[in-house]
Amino acid sequence: MEIAGFGVEEWLNVWEKSATYDIAQSTVSSMTMHEVLNLDGENGQSFYQMLDEQKMNYGWIEGSPEFKEEVAKLYDHVAPENILQTNGATGANHLALYSLIEPGDHVISEYPSYQQLYDIPKSLGAEVDFWHIKEDADWYPDIDELKALIRPDTKMICLNNANNPTGTLLSREFLEQVVEIAKSVGAYVLVDEVYLPLDHPENFASIIDLYDKGIATNSLSKTYSIPGIRVGWTATNTELADIFRKYRDYTMICAGIFNDLMAVHVLRHKDQVLARNKKIVLNNLQILKDWVDSEPRVSVVLPQAVSTSFVKFDIPEDTEAFCVRLLQEEGVLLVPGNRFDMPGHARLGYCTDEATLREGLKRLSKFLKQY
Ligand SMILES: Cc1ncc(COP(=O)(O)O)c(C=O)c1O
Repeated sequence: MEIAGFGVEEWLNVWEKSATYDIAQSTVSSMTMHEVLNLDGENGQSFYQMLDEQKMNYGWIEGSPEFKEEVAKLYDHVAPENILQTNGATGANHLALYSLIEPGDHVISEYPSYQQLYDIPKSLGAEVDFWHIKEDADWYPDIDELKALIRPDTKMICLNNANNPTGTLLSREFLEQVVEIAKSVGAYVLVDEVYLPLDHPENFASIIDLYDKGIATNSLSKTYSIPGIRVGWTATNTELADIFRKYRDYTMICAGIFNDLMAVHVLRHKDQVLARNKKIVLNNLQILKDWVDSEPRVSVVLPQAVSTSFVKFDIPEDTEAFCVRLLQEEGVLLVPGNRFDMPGHARLGYCTDEATLREGLKRLSKFLKQY
């Protein structure tokens, strides 16, 4: 099966371990194990005791009842039995696409966004049309363009809300229009929802609460800041959950006892986790904004309190060559925009720890002065 290389991952796999100032990532500064296990103020005592007594068998195949119950609480209308645990949101997207997309299917994918959402359907033999996001429309795609792309045989529309790399959140009203269009031809709408706005989360609407044929994928990797446990999920109606179960048995079995226990612990303390992460995002967003305001060669459509941003550079140099030199000469890592097919830009992961962000931006400013 042919598949394109994953632009961002291939960049990070080569360069991320050589960065001194990594301002490329899209996760809110990850929590340490100590921080996670101290969320209940017990320093992990009851958690480790529970773990000690736990048989290391496969555990709950689809995720424990506690996990499903906690995840279902994140939505208005999802039954716990329709939550399926996956290996991160990557696993959730793959499961949904692998289960539903066949050769010759028509798929419309927001572009650019998370590359899985267009290159997996392509690799499965689908005809994929891009629905472009536009910088001059605050990185929104145009609803009229979707109307022009939709076909009676469109099988699925794929979105990433909020979007990686831009951090733009699609409003409820906009998603409702997408749903109307999808409904008119019976298409599924898959939305990767790993980036929740940490300020005014009420502005976020999950596709599964808007559309019966919606598929929400998510994980604890970004907004919840613990990618290390590799836990994600799909949230769907019953019919889709049953289809996914069939394919899931072939691809993952389970996420593991330890990961499930950690995920439940984090979800039960989600208010604390989100409060911690909101503080980081809002604080760092102001630093990013001040920096961009002071940099004549940089502009940005500010993200909506989600943990990724996409800055634009006004420089007379190839973006990737610029990012490689920046890393080699200043130790600062970005993701060049050409990895999202958007040269002239770069993903700037501003939600790292404050000291790294400040020093990274200082060095980036120094580097920009060469022009
Ligand atoms: C939109 C999107 N979905 C999924 C992922 C990966 O998520 P996970 O770590 O849960 O597999 C990323 C990581 O960059 C992402 O940006």
